[in-house]
Order: sequence, then structure tokens, then C-alpha cells
Amino acid sequence: MTSNREDPGEAAECSPLEPAEPVEGSYFVSTYPPFSVWTEDEVAAYRDTLARAHSEVNELGLYVHVPFCAERCQYCYYLSYANAEEERIEAYVDGLMAELESYARAPAIAGREVGFVYFGGGTPSMLSEERIRRVMAHIDRCFPVKQGRELTFECAPASALPAKLATLRDVGVTRVSMGVQALDDEVLRKNKRVHTVAEVERAYTCMREVGFDVVNLDLIVGLAGESDKTFFAGVDRLVGLAPESVTLYQLEIPLNTPLYRALADGRIEDGLPTWEEKHARLARAFEELERAGYSVRSAYSAVRDPLRHRFVYQDAQYRGADLVGVGPSAFSYVGGVHHQNVASLRGYLACSARGELPFGRAHVLSADEQLVREFVLQLKLGGADAAVFRGRFGVELTEVFAEPLERLCRAGLLTLTDDADVRVTRAGLVRIDRVIPEFYLGQHHDVRYS
Ligand SMILES: C[S@@+](CC[C@H](N)C(=O)[O-])C[C@H]1O[C@@H](n2cnc3c(N)ncnc32)[C@H](O)[C@@H]1O
Ligand code: SF4
Repeated sequence: MTSNREDPGEAAECSPLEPAEPVEGSYFVSTYPPFSVWTEDEVAAYRDTLARAHSEVNELGLYVHVPFCAERCQYCYYLSYANAEEERIEAYVDGLMAELESYARAPAIAGREVGFVYFGGGTPSMLSEERIRRVMAHIDRCFPVKQGRELTFECAPASALPAKLATLRDVGVTRVSMGVQALDDEVLRKNKRVHTVAEVERAYTCMREVGFDVVNLDLIVGLAGESDKTFFAGVDRLVGLAPESVTLYQLEIPLNTPLYRALADGRIEDGLPTWEEKHARLARAFEELERAGYSVRSAYSAVRDPLRHRFVYQDAQYRGADLVGVGPSAFSYVGGVHHQNVASLRGYLACSARGELPFGRAHVLSADEQLVREFVLQLKLGGADAAVFRGRFGVELTEVFAEPLERLCRAGLLTLTDDADVRVTRAGLVRIDRVIPEFYLGQHHDVRYS
């Protein structure tokens, strides 16, 4: 196998990836195999897995999906509802409690320590202080806490108010993650964000005063109305705030978003950037962050200190940890089986009212699928070590992935070290979600993502 040991910084001219990627459609690969191959029929196997006592010690985490937002942003595809009534929110919290208890009793989970918890959404900071305390107390009753547990809580600026943030600190949140998206009022307005730059700065100052180990700020690259000028002015402003962690997502426009419909109907005045433009903006943003002392830790994020500012939720999952996901549409991964809860609040509440777990769709991974899953997810962290895959799966990466590795190394997107470890170049990292599908098993090429 030949390898390209130089990081060219930008993709070689003859990219093996699609030459002109359409602006619309999904991009981000959150797991493997694609969701479209998960089925209701395989839910029975997920039930069986939960009913079997766990045999090997694997890390365990918890994800709580909170499906409420102040407004729906036009680009967003997460399951979430604006203006939910109090009774529905209360019924949802009751459903969460019951679901958490069921998992805590399941033989595959019972008694295992939870090393990381992630409240995502939606907008978890929309929950009242009382509800946050109630849910957290319940989690701590249901699951033994692993020493040093990471507890992440997603916030939107408008609901990140002083009393709320103080509550988060009291219940043990170690990492707050705020959806900033842009630091330009006009871009925020065009994308129907309900906050202003001044509100971001107020919420951020309050987070610092309350004191969390890690504050992460999310930006999106490629929003409607964004230009190089607005985007890089935003990166400068963000560097000035000096959060421990910065996450940069490239805008994707899945077909179920209002933004997609607006584009299709010609209702978007500004042209949206192409993928190559977004990749170039992300590459330059990473360089600016590095100049400001940050280290790039994944295809989407940079941190001030890679040893202290870890993100266990992501690292553990990318290395094969088990995850229990509760709440409508939440994803779990237990004992090599993927599962997604029913993906509507109505369906979730109906299951809860019947006293049933909200089973939706599942997929039992073959040994080959588990290998590909862990390999591609680790590429998102910058590379995969040959020794790890020899130990876990008994394979040589350079043999099982010989053809795509050779092709992607030639294109300057990956390199191989002398120990046959795979490393992702910067050019590969900024287009990682186009690189990853090149490693899929044959049956998963050309299938829909979701
Ligand atoms: C659940 S939201 C975070 C918290 C909160 N709801 C907010 O938006 O402020 C998770 C992140 O997904 C990202 N996101 C949502 N839709 C996206 C899209 N279409 N393309 C890229 N990133 C997206 C945003 O950066 C957002 O902060
Ligand atoms: S980006 Fe955040 S605030 Fe906007 S709709 Fe999605 S989850 Fe809600």
C-alpha cells in the first residue's frame, strides 16, 4: 500500500469524493450503519439484549433528549417543539422518570456506573429549575455515579439565565454547551434565531461567574446571510470570549427542514455557500483558533487544553461505549445493538401512558459493522490506531480497508504512519463526513442516510 505522509492542507486536485456535492441534503454522519437500515423488526433483539446481564465491562453513558425550544430555527432537524404547554412538558418529565427506572432495572444496565451524561435537544435549558433538579435527582437514584462523571447540558442563550445556571452547577453539571451559531445580529435574524449577540455575551459572562469546568460554544459555518467577513469577525469575537471549547458545524440542509422548503420555493434571498466554501471556512477557522492557542480535537471542535477539556460523551461513544438514550427520538447503543425511541412527543407520551418503553427502530450490528462503526467514528477524532483494532477486532486496518485507504491517502485526505496507524489530514478532517462513507460495507453504499 502506498501512503501520503505529507499533510497537504488542502485536498489534492483529483478528489475521490463527489466532484460537486449538492448544497441540500444530509451531511453529518452520527453513527453507522445509516438509520435507514434500522427496522421495527429488530426491536425484539434490542429487548433481548436489555434482558441479558452484561457480560463485558464497557463504559456506560446516558443521553436525555429534551424536545422543547423557544422557536424552531429554520435549518434545524432535531426533534423539538416550540411553545409546548405545561401539561405536555410535565407528562414528558413523567415519561422520562418511568423510562429511566425501566433502564435501571434492565439486567444489561442494572448496577453499572454511569461515566457521562448528556442533556441535548431541543433546548434543555428550557426546562424549569424544579424539573431539572427532579430529573437529575432521579438519575442519581437510578444509576450509580462513576467518579469524575462528565455531565453536559445544552443551553440556548435566552434561557441561560442566572438562576438556571446556578441550578445546573448545583446538580453537578461540569460542561455547559451553548448554541451561539453566529456572532452577527443580521445573520442570527435571517436564520430565525431568537437571541442577539448581546444576549450571547450576557449568558456567557454569567456562565463564567457561576463557574463550570468547561464552557463550549457552538457555531455554524455557512448560515444564510453569512459571508467570509461576518463569519471570521464572529470567530475573532469568539476567541475574545475564550471558551474552553468551540464546536463548528457546517450547515447541512436535510430535506425535512423549513430551510430546505424555503430554498426549494425560492424564498431564500442570499445564495448559500457551497460545501467547498464551507470546508475552506472551517479550515481557516481551525487555523485561527490554533493561532489563538487552541488545539483541534475532532473534525468539529477545538479546545484550549486537550488534557483538561475532554469531551468524554463523544470520545467514549466513538470508541464503542454503551449509551442509554431516553426521551422521544433518543438513540441508544447497548451490547452492539442500535436503538432509536419513537420519534414524536405524542408517540412517546402514548407509550408512557401504557407503561411501555418507547421502542422505535433498532439494528443489530454484525461483527463487520461494529468494526466499520468504530473505525469511521474514530476518524472523526483525527485517526485510528492499528494496535487498538488488532486488540479489539483481530484485524489489520491496512488489510481490511486496503482499497479505500490507498485511494484516500493518494488524494491527500488520510495518511498512514510507520506503525500502520491511520491519520486524517486537515483536508480530510474538514470534509470527514464525505470521507467516512468510503469505508462503508458494500450493502450500505447508495442507501439513504435516514
Ligand atoms: C440541539 S442544538 C443546541 C442547543 C440549542 N438548541 C441551540 O440551538 O441553541 C445542537 C447544535 O446542532 C447544530 N445544528 C442544528 N441544526 C444544524 C444544521 N442543519 N446544520 C449544522 N448544524 C446544526 C447547532 O450548532 C446546535 O447548536
Ligand atoms: S438549533 Fe437549537 S434552538 Fe434551534 S430549533 Fe434546533 S434545537 Fe431548537
